[in-house]
Amino acid sequence: MYRTHTCGELTAADINRKVTLSGWVQTIRDKGFVIWVDLRDRYGITQLIFDAERTQEDVIKKAQKLGREFVIQAIGTVIERASKNPNIPTGDIEILVEELQILNGAKLPPFTIETETDGGEELRMKYRYLDIRRAPVRNNLIFRHKVAQHVRNYLSQKGFIEVETPYLIKSTPEGARDFVVPSRMNEGQFYALPQSPQTFKQLLMVGGMDKYFQIVKCFRDEDLRADRQPEFTQIDCEMAFVEQEDILNNFEGLTKHLLKEINGVEVTDFPRMTYDDAMKRYGNDKPDIRFGMEFGELNQVAQHKDFNVFNSAELVVGIAVPGGNSYTRKEIDNLIDWVKRPQIGSLGMVYVRCNEDGSFKSSVDKFYDQDDLKAWAEVTGAKAGDLICVLSGEIDKTRAQLSALRMELASRLGLRKANEFAPLWVIDFPLLEWDEETKRYHAMHHPFTSPKPGQMQLLETNPGAVKANAYDLVLNGNEIGGGSIRIHDKAVQSKMFDYLGFTKEEAQAQFGFLMNAFEYGAPPHGGIAFGLDRLVAILGGQETIRDFIAFPKNNSGRDVMIDAPASIDKQQLDELHLKLNL
Ligand code: AMO
Repeated sequence: MYRTHTCGELTAADINRKVTLSGWVQTIRDKGFVIWVDLRDRYGITQLIFDAERTQEDVIKKAQKLGREFVIQAIGTVIERASKNPNIPTGDIEILVEELQILNGAKLPPFTIETETDGGEELRMKYRYLDIRRAPVRNNLIFRHKVAQHVRNYLSQKGFIEVETPYLIKSTPEGARDFVVPSRMNEGQFYALPQSPQTFKQLLMVGGMDKYFQIVKCFRDEDLRADRQPEFTQIDCEMAFVEQEDILNNFEGLTKHLLKEINGVEVTDFPRMTYDDAMKRYGNDKPDIRFGMEFGELNQVAQHKDFNVFNSAELVVGIAVPGGNSYTRKEIDNLIDWVKRPQIGSLGMVYVRCNEDGSFKSSVDKFYDQDDLKAWAEVTGAKAGDLICVLSGEIDKTRAQLSALRMELASRLGLRKANEFAPLWVIDFPLLEWDEETKRYHAMHHPFTSPKPGQMQLLETNPGAVKANAYDLVLNGNEIGGGSIRIHDKAVQSKMFDYLGFTKEEAQAQFGFLMNAFEYGAPPHGGIAFGLDRLVAILGGQETIRDFIAFPKNNSGRDVMIDAPASIDKQQLDELHLKLNL
């Protein structure tokens, strides 16, 4: 038997007990007459002691040969520690070792395998199996398991059935590029890996499954960021005979349940905000509402003077930064430089200091008097002691820039607290979005999303104004889920493909299977998919999803541990009927 106990469970209650432990050597302290070893496994750390007076010489000799990360088995007796460590559960005891087995040696690890490590990101990714031995990474994976477990139990209890859908499929458009897999048996043809199981879950509704969910891998070939991986996991859900309200209520339930079970937080309020409102008030369709700093549109009160920058702008908009009047000139200049960085792209920033005595001092005093600035303060909600930051320009760009500034300032001011949770639904998304590159409309969510009732006609006259039965669940400024009520009528779906610029033949070739299914009695249906990686990271108080994925890819989409993607040999290329043209 390798072990009687784990390295995380022995306490003072076990004193005098004879035990066997197995694990990895984390640290060795050799004081000559006594050697201490910290033995680690998934459950914790237990201290071993080898002591010249009480341990046999051959055992001491073996202990002297140990190195970091050796895998060992130790048999001994639990004794009380002379100097206790209150920081760990096993800190009152140690094991006086009587027998020692080296189960496997280990090369010197490339970085320290402790909570604080000297290993850089790339190195830790290359040796991810060593990184996983570190408590923070291990705990994140255990945390993820716990969240997934709660999700499965909750949904199963509510009558959802987990059904697996295929990975080798045909393109499902979710707005990214597909990863494709060549078919050996079908020359010149390719599977696409699913960007989501969207069409399959709809077919399951046609198949009468009624309530479906799946914790499922999705694949998207898109630019990567802290909250995006090329393969990620969704909690994918679909329900038949539902309206938007049913979906929102159901998944509000799931989110509340998770916040309560995982974080011990009771959140009762799930505000709903229309997309238009979110853009106007926060410049963003995933607003972080844990703090204020709402946008104040200033066109009315800033375009009546000779300041041409504002007069020529489509939008003049500001936010009040709480306590921002305490910023030095240099700090404000830094902020201006920050918004002018290419990543943000603003041409400049106007600011107004709101003095304690009720007066104002602005960077545009030449153009605006105290009454003007007072009006700006009213619109932005600025109080004495605040700083008003104002940007101007084209509506969409200016909103995005001010939104980035708002988030940056909130982070600097400590307003984005990891243990505070403010979910909200963003609803009434536009059905279509204009794509400058291709000069045509694309489905903002996906082409299976239904327009709001009665809006189909508007598609002919003003497509950009049509709203969809689509919703996103936003948590602390992150989009953690999105879904819609679907089209379930063949004629409507076919018309939608027309509007999206598909020819009849293209629509039939790509989505004929779905439209055909709609001819055999498709129930009204709708659903949602949560990004599990994002959800787990946010519940865990972080935003980088890589930290919650066992074997993530780096920012260039590479797995640096197994070194993928990689080339394949000529024979394999031939079998797949592929010729490289490099
Ligand atoms: P959507 O494309 O909004 O909807 O995706 C659902 C959720 O998945 C997460 N997500 C990602 N997480 C990590 N890395 C990525 N690259 C990534 N892309 C998306 C987000 C997002 O909210 N089929 C629809 C759902 C539906 O209509 O039911 C869909 O996939 O948290």
